[in-house]
Amino acid sequence: MSRAPLAPYPALRLRRLRQADWTRRLVRESVLTPSDLIWAMVVHEGEGRIAVPSMPGVERLSVKEAAGAAREAELLGIPAIAVFPHIDGAGKDAAGALAADPDGVIARAIKAMKDAAPGVGIMCDVALDPFTDHGHDGVIENGRIHNDATIDRLVEQGLMQARAGCDILAPSDMMDGRVGVLRRALEADGHTDVMIMSYAAKYASAFYGPYREAIGSGKLGGGGLANPPDKKTYQMDPANTEEALREVALDIAEGADMVMVKPGLPYLDIVRRVVEAFAVPTFAFQVSGEYAMIRAAGLNGWIDEERAVMESLTAFKRAGCAGVITYFAPRAARLLGA
Ligand code: PBG
Repeated sequence: MSRAPLAPYPALRLRRLRQADWTRRLVRESVLTPSDLIWAMVVHEGEGRIAVPSMPGVERLSVKEAAGAAREAELLGIPAIAVFPHIDGAGKDAAGALAADPDGVIARAIKAMKDAAPGVGIMCDVALDPFTDHGHDGVIENGRIHNDATIDRLVEQGLMQARAGCDILAPSDMMDGRVGVLRRALEADGHTDVMIMSYAAKYASAFYGPYREAIGSGKLGGGGLANPPDKKTYQMDPANTEEALREVALDIAEGADMVMVKPGLPYLDIVRRVVEAFAVPTFAFQVSGEYAMIRAAGLNGWIDEERAVMESLTAFKRAGCAGVITYFAPRAARLLGA
């Protein structure tokens, strides 16, 4: 039986270009490579590797293990590692005093990783939350996160990281004005080549849950003025998008070399707007909750996990990201045949 022609464009069949692997490869618009990946990694003060229950497959690494992981990154062609510290409860206090400790686990991890793999970039969070007993990213005064008092602490922390050999400082605290103050402090201390990737548009998100377990974060909302219930007075409202552009514009004006949108997949519209509005390398953080969701569904056999990992990472490239910070980095690099 003959069919009616496809009106009104009988010759236009978009499926022609999808008919074989070779045509699909030929017209593919976005390509993910290991060079697009920043490996999100957690280090701890003890020995060996410790599993993180809410992030199956992610382990906290000792400094020694982290050095080995840096060599692995080099072999896999992963350009950089973003390192986050797990700090035992005993090492935390209200002011996050150990955040700038030059002998702390972050300083030791930076040195060990740069020694082991000098060609791999090291990026560090500039934020107090792993070191505060209340779990907030700043200094609390009268129930409020004090912006400028926090910045003073962040500068000490950032300088410690730069002196230890960190290549990229990544302020993730969302205090106003911290990028400019950090940049000036770096210049004054002679670290003219140390880069800043600001967590420019960082949202107050539920998707950070597993990370807080991974780094042993203090529990928010402990009560009263000493511990506000959430991070909504400094991290952004998930409903906003114009505000993200203002945040990014400010951070670039203050000296950020690269900017980040966080979380990742639920905020690809923000990535796209930032990429279109600014000529600056833009990254997204596929955060712990995104990792946990894909892993949980995969472990239950509810999705094809490998395909979901690669599809999600490719989506960041399609949206215009220069790269993605992800806990899947080594696995994705291996799947890419590195
Ligand atoms: C701390 C920080 C957080 C993450 C990175 N740096 C958590 C938070 O802001 O509460 C989240 C990372 C993740 O969820 O993978 N400033």
